[in-house]
Amino acid sequence: MDIGIDQMGLYSPDFYIDLRQLAEVRGDDPDKYTIGIGQDEQAVPPSSQDVVTMGAAAVQQIQASIDAERLGLIVLGTESGVDASKAGALFIQKLTGLPQTARVLEIKEACYGGTAGLMMARDYVAAHPTKQALVIAADIARYGLNTAGEVTQGAGAVAMLVSAAPRLLVINDDSAVHAEDIGDFWRPVYTNQALARGKYSTEQYLRFFQLAWAAYKKATGLGLADFKALTFHLPYTKMGLKALRQVLPEADAAKQQDLLMHFDHSIQYSRRIGNLYTGSLYLGLLSLLENDSSLAAGDRLGLFSYGSGAVGEFFSAVLVEGFEKQLHGAAHAGALNARRALSIAEYERVFQDAVPYAKADYQTNPDYYAGPFVLTAVTGQERQYQAR
Ligand code: CAA
Repeated sequence: MDIGIDQMGLYSPDFYIDLRQLAEVRGDDPDKYTIGIGQDEQAVPPSSQDVVTMGAAAVQQIQASIDAERLGLIVLGTESGVDASKAGALFIQKLTGLPQTARVLEIKEACYGGTAGLMMARDYVAAHPTKQALVIAADIARYGLNTAGEVTQGAGAVAMLVSAAPRLLVINDDSAVHAEDIGDFWRPVYTNQALARGKYSTEQYLRFFQLAWAAYKKATGLGLADFKALTFHLPYTKMGLKALRQVLPEADAAKQQDLLMHFDHSIQYSRRIGNLYTGSLYLGLLSLLENDSSLAAGDRLGLFSYGSGAVGEFFSAVLVEGFEKQLHGAAHAGALNARRALSIAEYERVFQDAVPYAKADYQTNPDYYAGPFVLTAVTGQERQYQAR
């Protein structure tokens, strides 16, 4: 039985900054950001956007394909959740009117949470072939003003509907995993800003990719020649490029050029949005599908997921007949083009507006209400959401 992704939705905040401007203000060479890091723009979430509002907006885009009778599982993968106990997916269920008869939960393992949810969804459908499962990967990547990680921030959500006979791609049951307790990146529960050993984390990402890729090749007998394109978790696009370059020598010159060309399509959205943590790999996948007109049904794609802490997983997917008819590239490009650019000074105000975890009640800033759902306030320490 073929199981995989039937539909994909994407939402990212309606505000962004130009990273060349950020470089100038921070006293860095703009080329470091756009070439060295590989990022052009960065989504800026106002205080009214969080993983719930962004996740709900992404779900809304694919809602027409959700069958209330068949939906059995709703999973939110996130590492910037809004509550240490309650699943953010319950807020999303209510905001989008999803059925109350599905299991609802939140999953956490840094940026790997989206893949964990996707694999759980695939296994769930394998056990219950008539069912659908909804996976939401949503995050706000936040390191702080004037930090080394600032240029690699971002925000947004990807929603994926998983079912048998999927209309986009089949996820093969061929994963190779490497999991190991390391201290490359973490976020204590009292803060909304991540802590990272930057350079070390990039080395670990590459090491985990190498281990997963070697295990994958050994188990399947496949190699680079069997893949049309490789897509990667993209904390910033240069990171994915480094991983790809690690394995390129395994292919001939023509294949190397081909893989680099496809990779370039897979980073278009990421260059403009930034890191989505759990959603990042799937933002790359969506960018590839929506921007690469040379893809065809039957093509095999390789996906590498990495979540600090750390878990790395490499797996493959195969495009199905008619996949291009299920995509919404023009709408996604239109939404990115319609965003409002913030000056760096305004971005810094919006950034500081974001609510520290220790604060009790507050109102979010209505000047920045945008998107289909907003967090309006926290009253009595409970979050108040609204559809707009
Ligand atoms: N023109 C062109 N390139 C330039 C340049 C210029 N003027 N100046 C510098 N560069 C290049 C550097 O040569 C370097 O390229 P290479 O890595 O290919 O050598 C690149 O720009 C970055 O320069 P630095 O290494 O000096 O940058 P930095 O010290 O400021 O830190 C970072 C970079 C470590 C990625 C930092 O942004 C960071 O800590 N980010 C957060 C952590 C992170 O994203 N880690 C990724 C792996 S962990 C993960 O994947 C999980 C996750 O989502 C967080």
